[in-house]
Amino acid sequence: MNCAELAGQQALVTGAAGDLGAAMARALAARGATVACWDIQPETSGRETLGPLAEGYRQVDVRDRSGVEAALAALPRLDIVCSNAGIVAASPFLDVSIENWQTHLDINLTGCFHVAQAAARRMVQEGTQGRIIFTSSWVGQIPWPEITPYAVSKAGVNMLMKQMARELAEHGIRVNAIAPGIVNAGLAGRQLREEPEYAARVEKVIPLGSPGEPEEIAEAVCYLAGESTAYMTGSILTLDGGCSLFQFDR
Ligand SMILES: NC(=O)c1ccc[n+]([C@@H]2O[C@H](COP(=O)([O-])OP(=O)(O)OC[C@H]3O[C@@H](n4cnc5c(N)ncnc54)[C@H](O)[C@@H]3O)[C@@H](O)[C@H]2O)c1
Repeated sequence: MNCAELAGQQALVTGAAGDLGAAMARALAARGATVACWDIQPETSGRETLGPLAEGYRQVDVRDRSGVEAALAALPRLDIVCSNAGIVAASPFLDVSIENWQTHLDINLTGCFHVAQAAARRMVQEGTQGRIIFTSSWVGQIPWPEITPYAVSKAGVNMLMKQMARELAEHGIRVNAIAPGIVNAGLAGRQLREEPEYAARVEKVIPLGSPGEPEEIAEAVCYLAGESTAYMTGSILTLDGGCSLFQFDR
């Protein structure tokens, strides 16, 4: 990809103060895009994380539809949306609380719906051949122990993406998802650093042998945002080191 490929384009990344979102924002900016960075974290911590991209930071909770619409209306145009904000809180299935279940659906799935529908409406209205990219997960298709609400929310994101891709193709809007595996980012990154048992279990289930890095996921996002994927819509691009090929034992 040419480093000015996205010059003049306006991108939006949600969950941009997190590890993957910040890597996406940096990678899109490196290709010339102007990047709006949204996260639920307060302005000071969000801006600190984003350094040179701090100017584009805004505190937005993706669950808040009117807040999402107001923040979108403040953007001069909209070409690329990375709907990436998400949470994960592990719990054995028998112990999953209603609150845990609902919070995953509210943030990971309904949050994506709010951002993506509001963005798509604007793209259609302005005749923009936009690109919407969801951050799903390999566990949207393959079960992994003790994260049922998370996995279900990501399976929902996969179908939200496909429905949107089908209906928005006639407007020239492409909708795809990336499905990262276990990445050295967010909760997984903290567990890899702090819990040797988790790190050992993870090593066994990644055929390529090690967790992914945020920059590798961000490259895939730029690929989906760029011209080289002009014929691609409705796809899940999996970057999981082969996790979903692997039949792991108990
Ligand atoms: N880290 C991994 O191994 C991995 C693997 C597959 C998919 N993912 C997905 O990647 C995305 C980013 O995760 P990450 O690993 O960078 O974790 P992270 O915790 O570093 O980043 C997530 C960000 O989302 C923000 N956020 C949470 N709730 C929000 C809300 N209501 N509104 C706006 N922002 C909110 C958080 O403040 C945080 O900055 C998530 O959707 C996650 O499910 C991560």
